[in-house]
Amino acid sequence: MWREIGRWSEAELDRADRAYRRWVVRERRAKRFFAYIVETPKGVPAGSGAVWLAPNQPRPGRVGTSGLPYILSMYTEPRYRRRGVATRLVLTMIEWAERRRYGRVVLHASPMGRPVYARLGFQPSREMRLDLTARRR
Ligand SMILES: CC(C)(COP(=O)(O)OP(=O)(O)OC[C@H]1O[C@@H](n2cnc3c(N)ncnc32)[C@H](O)[C@@H]1OP(=O)(O)O)[C@@H](O)C(=O)NCCC(=O)NCCS
Repeated sequence: MWREIGRWSEAELDRADRAYRRWVVRERRAKRFFAYIVETPKGVPAGSGAVWLAPNQPRPGRVGTSGLPYILSMYTEPRYRRRGVATRLVLTMIEWAERRRYGRVVLHASPMGRPVYARLGFQPSREMRLDLTARRR
């Protein structure tokens, strides 16, 4: 996924991949990370995605649940694109969150992913951010 949506060197991709794998193992053990794979009828992986329960603070209207379902690592193999693989993955994860009574799911969309999520009803949020690296320049 990162190779397609970012501009990182192979060395940086490898470094991040190793760290990500360690992180996934830890988060899976803690039951905060759930991943899905769509396979062809012959068992070939066509696409995958995951939902992670990101830590968040209790607040009014959100006392009984822990974590905010955050969809990440969405990827469809190029030859299986535009057949609804990602849509199916996201719908499965939305159902996952609904069954557990979460009030919302969030994600950060790549330009390629944006129309897929928008069609499913995702809307831009009120999140704001400040780029501290730009301030250091
Ligand atoms: C973004 C990405 C995951 C989408 O995967 P996908 O499986 O092709 O997504 P879908 O098939 O569900 O939807 C893609 C498009 O195909 C269309 N489509 C779905 N089923 C279709 C079908 N049977 N026939 C024709 N078109 C179809 C959808 O309407 C959608 O069109 P739109 O983009 O104009 O809205 C994939 O392009 C990808 O892996 N990109 C690189 C990594 C990336 O950007 N990941 C997302 C990070 S947030």
